[in-house]
Amino acid sequence: MKAAVMGYGTIGSGVVEVLNINHDSITKRAGEAIEVKYVLDLRDFPGDPIQNKIVHDYKVIAEDPEIGMVVETMGGVEPAYTFVRAMLEAGKHVTTSNKALVAEKGAELIALAKEKNVNFLFEASVGGGIPIIRPLNSCLTADVIEEITGILNGTTNYMLTKMSVEGSEFADVLKDAQDKGYAEKDPTADVEGFDACRKIAILTSLVCGQQVDFSDIHTEGITKISATDIKYAKAMGKAIKLLATSRKVGDSYCAMVSPCMLPQEHPLYPVNDVFNAIFVHGNVLGDAMFYGSGAGKLPTASAVVADMVEIAKFKDTNLPMEWRPEKLELADYKMVTN
Ligand code: HSE
Repeated sequence: MKAAVMGYGTIGSGVVEVLNINHDSITKRAGEAIEVKYVLDLRDFPGDPIQNKIVHDYKVIAEDPEIGMVVETMGGVEPAYTFVRAMLEAGKHVTTSNKALVAEKGAELIALAKEKNVNFLFEASVGGGIPIIRPLNSCLTADVIEEITGILNGTTNYMLTKMSVEGSEFADVLKDAQDKGYAEKDPTADVEGFDACRKIAILTSLVCGQQVDFSDIHTEGITKISATDIKYAKAMGKAIKLLATSRKVGDSYCAMVSPCMLPQEHPLYPVNDVFNAIFVHGNVLGDAMFYGSGAGKLPTASAVVADMVEIAKFKDTNLPMEWRPEKLELADYKMVTN
């Protein structure tokens, strides 16, 4: 199957790398070779092995009947939304790592994919390389999911871990996280909790089968956490973590993103550094934990390429995903307690 990658940044180039590293096993699992024919980017990449595949106009991809699947790793809602819509309209399967796009347009793009009998998959949009979208959409459908609580942002988890280990202040660890390339120059989306908010909106939409508006989710980041807060938490035997939580209340869910104090016996307590973890409680399953690399080039590309394999395996089928566009009214977040 011929593929196109839109956006040759960290994740897009990781996708090309994973397809090369594991070419033989991926071909075997997909049932056919997956070949990248185009890479869409504004830049040219002279000297890079993909330089002859670079195109600057998404219509070249949309109008090429040879392209069966498209990977979107550009990030942000626009122009990703316009490009992804065009690919689905043209009958191409799409996988994306873009949580902003999925949180805002997920229901619409799933419906469009269904109409065109193709797939819109987004395993990499939450938890990087950790499997969580497919488990919630498939393996855990016998359960009523009563709680999802996650450490869904690696940058802030790294910062809080460092503050705890070194007793340092927020501003110092932010600089360190930026120097190490975890935090962006503009760290707002991570430190204000917006990134985690979009991710818990996606997970909640998946389990309730309806669109959850991320702007309805009470969101508080870690900018007000000081070395003193961490010191007092430690004295009480607790850790401060940025949690994204969704809990079932009647027919709805209450969701919030906030720094919380976790006791040592909580399964998320030992999750440190850039790792992510998602705790899920189902009414018949009980507790389950998903833990691993929640960000980074190859872990995130691993999840994208797994979607590509799924697409190749089920290319004539629309894989069911229940996520209707009707908006779910969230319950009051003050009902979320620890
Ligand atoms: N900025 C995100 C994080 C990247 O730190 O977790 C993965 O979505």
